[in-house]
Amino acid sequence: SSNKFFVGGNWKCNGTKESITKLVSDLNDAKLEADVDVVVAPPFVYIDQVKNSLTDRIEIAAQNSWVGKGGAFTGEISVEQLKDIGCKWVVLGHSERRHVIGEDDQFIGKKAAYALSEGLGVIACIGEQLQEREAGKTFDVCFQQLKAYADAIPSWDNVVIAYEPVWAIGTGKVATPEQAQEVHAALRDWLKNNVSADVATKTRIIYGGSVNGSNCAELAKQEDIDGFLVGGASLKGPEFATIVNSVT
Ligand code: G3H
Repeated sequence: SSNKFFVGGNWKCNGTKESITKLVSDLNDAKLEADVDVVVAPPFVYIDQVKNSLTDRIEIAAQNSWVGKGGAFTGEISVEQLKDIGCKWVVLGHSERRHVIGEDDQFIGKKAAYALSEGLGVIACIGEQLQEREAGKTFDVCFQQLKAYADAIPSWDNVVIAYEPVWAIGTGKVATPEQAQEVHAALRDWLKNNVSADVATKTRIIYGGSVNGSNCAELAKQEDIDGFLVGGASLKGPEFATIVNSVT
């Protein structure tokens, strides 16, 4: 599509001060194509370290945020705090938060609405589990998760949708370019029918799930794939750069 390519590196719950120093240094040394938005999401406790050492060329996302204004919410991190420390984005609705932590569609929708209202960009994740795909429910599940965002947010201007089939996350079983393209096209169609043609065209839909330096190029060629959300391969600076540079 004609949308600006977007590649996010989700570091998940990985890293130490030392390993992150090395990763940041590799990212600072990498040659990145100009026409790509590049974002990394470190664990909360390392955001300040990354902000103070990483090139401004790469923006920072948090991996989660509290659903409203900060206050007496033990263990949570507020959107205001994320902005204060230099985050521009937040990843919400990741499958690990849905299926391991138990966050539901409504809660995730509220988080997205609050983050957007405070000016953070939202990487809004959705995706079906293996048994849902095998039962032929892939579109139903993805549309339901997408609708929960649509019902909660007033605008899609600052949203990137990340389609991440759960069976592809961290498994080495990447979706085929055809499988990913099929869902991305269906998501765009849903947006067209339920939000607007403009939002359907302009909202970036990125793919996540076992993307690596070897499979990114074929995926990036697909009409409706506007970039990637990368987990494991984003922990290696040169490989992450290869994925960024798979922009066509
Ligand atoms: O947010 C990233 C995804 O969960 C993908 O993770 O690249 O390790 O499969 P993965």
